[in-house]
Amino acid sequence: MSNDSIEILTIPSLQAKKEKKEKIVALTAYDFPIAKIIDEAGIDLILVGDSLGMVVLGYENTIPVTMEEMIHHAKPVVRASKRALVVGDMPYFSFHLTIEESVFNASRFLKEAGTKAVKIEGASKRRLKLIETLVEAEIPVMGHIGLTPQSIHHLGQYKVKGKEIGEAKKIVMDALNLERAGVFSMVLECVPAQVARIITEKIKIPTLGIRAGPYCDGQILVFHDLVGLSDGHIPKFVKKYIDLNQIIREAVKNYVEDVRGGMFPDQNHSYHLKQEKIEELIKQRARK
Ligand code: KIV
Repeated sequence: MSNDSIEILTIPSLQAKKEKKEKIVALTAYDFPIAKIIDEAGIDLILVGDSLGMVVLGYENTIPVTMEEMIHHAKPVVRASKRALVVGDMPYFSFHLTIEESVFNASRFLKEAGTKAVKIEGASKRRLKLIETLVEAEIPVMGHIGLTPQSIHHLGQYKVKGKEIGEAKKIVMDALNLERAGVFSMVLECVPAQVARIITEKIKIPTLGIRAGPYCDGQILVFHDLVGLSDGHIPKFVKKYIDLNQIIREAVKNYVEDVRGGMFPDQNHSYHLKQEKIEELIKQRARK
């Protein structure tokens, strides 16, 4: 595909996909090479998620992730993405400050990293007010409800939200409030498929599901889960398309064996001097 014929994803074109009933496909990315591959493979939306903390930086949860880390990783993702809409995830305590400080932090994603939008977890009254202010400041916002991983200490564990009627009703209400506050799309994480369906049918903006069943307008996954690079247990909702962990282990084991056994580097992987240069070198050394 030439650069001229690339369909560059914008917020209106993403929203039009819902009207046309075209599924939106989204993934996370945290660096240049992976963002380039997934952008060229046709992903519509790339989220520089704060899952960065767990899958790349080795933190236990997303709480320690800082604005500096997010901006640092969002920059190369933006540089690599020619087609996809890139969204930066606001890390914990970057938007729990005063409205002014929170808006300033969100603006850093657009001004310094070059993302087109930010994502914010939650739909409390205070959060909705902040979202309205961000939208008014020309900062597009993606919502995130259901399981919100930044609330891990309140939740105790990552588990399905909305299994009981009261909780399901609250999630539907949160979705309606977020739409009213002006988000352009929202992530529904870890909710029963039927709850995701009700929301997707009730609102006009696209829903992106993760552990939310088949009825959302699109799907988002953590890249490292999709390719089998995540450490430890892979939950039921993840479809692992390749086991890169195993493939990389095998490649590194072979490299270790080759180097230790003197098979690598061999002549085929070395640079060589022309014969006359070798002779000149020998002569010069003999003269010394
Ligand atoms: O941080 C992240 O990767 C996310 C997705 C799981 C939606 O928020």
